[in-house]
Amino acid sequence: MFPLNDKESIFKEYMDKRVPLIKNKKILQSSYIPEQLPHREKQINDIVEIVAPSLIKDKPSNILIIGKTGTGKTAVVKYIGKELKKADEYEENCSFVYINCEVVDTPYGILYNIGNQIIKDETRSIPFTGWSLDRVFGELTKYIDDENKVYIIVLDEIDRSFQKNGDDIFYFLTTINELLEKSKVSIIGISNNPKFTDFLDPKIKSRLGEEKIIFPPYNTVQLEDILKDRSFEAFTEGTLSEGVISYCAALSAQDMGDARRALDLLRIAADIAERNNDKIITEAHVKFAKNKIELDAVSEIVRTLTPQSKTVLMSIIINTENNNPIMNTGDVFTTYKQISEILESSTLTQRRVAGLISELDMLGIIHARVKSFGRAGRTREIELNTKDVIDMLKSDALFKKLTTYKNIKQTTLM
Ligand SMILES: Nc1ncnc2c1ncn2[C@@H]1O[C@H](COP(=O)(O)OP(=O)(O)O)[C@@H](O)[C@H]1O
Ligand SMILES: [Mg+2]
Repeated sequence: MFPLNDKESIFKEYMDKRVPLIKNKKILQSSYIPEQLPHREKQINDIVEIVAPSLIKDKPSNILIIGKTGTGKTAVVKYIGKELKKADEYEENCSFVYINCEVVDTPYGILYNIGNQIIKDETRSIPFTGWSLDRVFGELTKYIDDENKVYIIVLDEIDRSFQKNGDDIFYFLTTINELLEKSKVSIIGISNNPKFTDFLDPKIKSRLGEEKIIFPPYNTVQLEDILKDRSFEAFTEGTLSEGVISYCAALSAQDMGDARRALDLLRIAADIAERNNDKIITEAHVKFAKNKIELDAVSEIVRTLTPQSKTVLMSIIINTENNNPIMNTGDVFTTYKQISEILESSTLTQRRVAGLISELDMLGIIHARVKSFGRAGRTREIELNTKDVIDMLKSDALFKKLTTYKNIKQTTLM
């Protein structure tokens, strides 16, 4: 029997054993905005110079910020927003609005969110649904003008909105100034994709990109500085064994200079160590963390594949497991047809299947090299890039029916 009179928590043993390696987990999370952003001084200064006139009610130029994921774009812009609010506390000459277009991804949603952040008079608020886009835009424009202020509107992940909705929203927001008499609106667009503006209407393109700021990837030394700052706040002293920070930095510099990746590595390594009851975090924990991150990424890709793509991938797996690790499109197609038959699903043409193979290649789960065979024409050598996908696909509900999997083995590849 459980000793009920000894009223100590049943979690006591766990709590006693636990050594808190991380003083403050929040600091290692990517949503945390640190006070210091090393190696972004130039970008911060450039943006500050552009937006500063808003403090005296002059309209800043629109800015387009371009840089790969994890290069500090969001952190820098949010940091500047915070500082701008502080500097403007008494005058209230400007208002800083942040929208993430990955989360809010319709034109109505974007305008509704802007309204939601700036409109203080409840009788004038924009309803969640129900109005026409023109009406929302009209009311928002009126409200903005009545306030007699400068509005800086940040559209983060702006290319996401464009992919889904085209450039209507940018048209609205960049032409709004022509309708305003007292207030002014400036846009800061942030994008991971430098090519995204190529698809915009030329007029909108030139308006959005009045000023362009580039965020280059971080190198190893810069990532080390970033991690050192963050870990100094996050960990108790002596928790990190020597070399851990450089190792995380080196791995992430190889991997596109992504500070988010570097922080993820460190945070997950710390989690693993903590769960293991280890007293210090070592490179071995970082290696585990790296594997975990990669596995999670692959599983996310696999999870979101269409049934047809999954079937193509399954065909590649079956060939791999049948002593045909380097196959051509024809091999994949033969197996694919057999699986489709068993699953009673529709069969795409070999050309479409070749297209899906290229997609899987772009997603990085397979390798498809074009191999030239002189007069015989071109063919491809296809190979699985990671064995991780094998178990994931085999446990996918789509292939439950594939119990005759062994039959495919015998018929296809002899
Ligand atoms: N210079 C820096 N100093 C400290 N932390 C940084 C720096 N640059 C990026 N980070 C951190 O890295 C993570 C990713 O940065 P983020 O601004 O979200 O990148 P992006 O928006 O470019 O994808 C965040 O946790 C952020 O705080
Ligand atoms: Mg971002």
